[in-house]
Amino acid sequence: FASGSLDGVKLVITAGPTIEAIDPVRFISNHSSGKMGFALAQAAIDAGASVTLVAGPVHLATPERCQRINVQSAEQMLQAVNEQLDSCDIFIGCAAVADYRPATVAEQKIKKNDDSMSITLVRNPDIISVVAKHQPRPFCVGFAAETENLIAHAQQKRIRKNLDMIIANDVANSAIGFNSDNNAATLITAQGEHSLALASKTQLARAAIAHIAQQFKAGNKP
Ligand code: C5P
Repeated sequence: FASGSLDGVKLVITAGPTIEAIDPVRFISNHSSGKMGFALAQAAIDAGASVTLVAGPVHLATPERCQRINVQSAEQMLQAVNEQLDSCDIFIGCAAVADYRPATVAEQKIKKNDDSMSITLVRNPDIISVVAKHQPRPFCVGFAAETENLIAHAQQKRIRKNLDMIIANDVANSAIGFNSDNNAATLITAQGEHSLALASKTQLARAAIAHIAQQFKAGNKP
């Protein structure tokens, strides 16, 4: 890990969950803690980058010297990311974006009158895929949380989303991932794979940022 390896580089990172409103008091969300994205932001700052963190609702302190934009929904996250793209060199999509949102948001609190109810959900935009199509196109890094065939599924996801790198996480293993303080991962590019052994999210983030900096400078294409 070389401090200064990202001097003058602008990095945008999404982190945490998104929450999708059902009515004024209810929402759909997930268990993402934001820890990995915040650790990556800190590591990138330590490497000299200028970092903007677009964060869903999480209980984490903002890293020092980091610009933080708080959002709630996937649509808000996409808008905040879009506003950063003209000057972005590296984009890391670490957020656990909700795949679907309620088709309509009830204006008033929904009453429990019926024995059952259903909510129609519609697809959310895929933020990282939008980023990977943007011109100028930043170096794009995504995450793949998989429960089986980790490497193959992650590699397919990298190609489908047109990413330079995907960080594959085995979420079948409860010792790592989501709310845990530890993580292990495999970094996959078009050139090959690079495994990072089980470590704290802080240590893992530093190793991942070192590898991202190296690949970014190599200028390899997805
Ligand atoms: O397709 P899947 O959700 O497994 O892909 C995960 C990767 O895509 C992560 O990098 C995540 O941040 C990003 N993503 C996104 N917008 C979505 C869904 C996923 O940016 N709507």
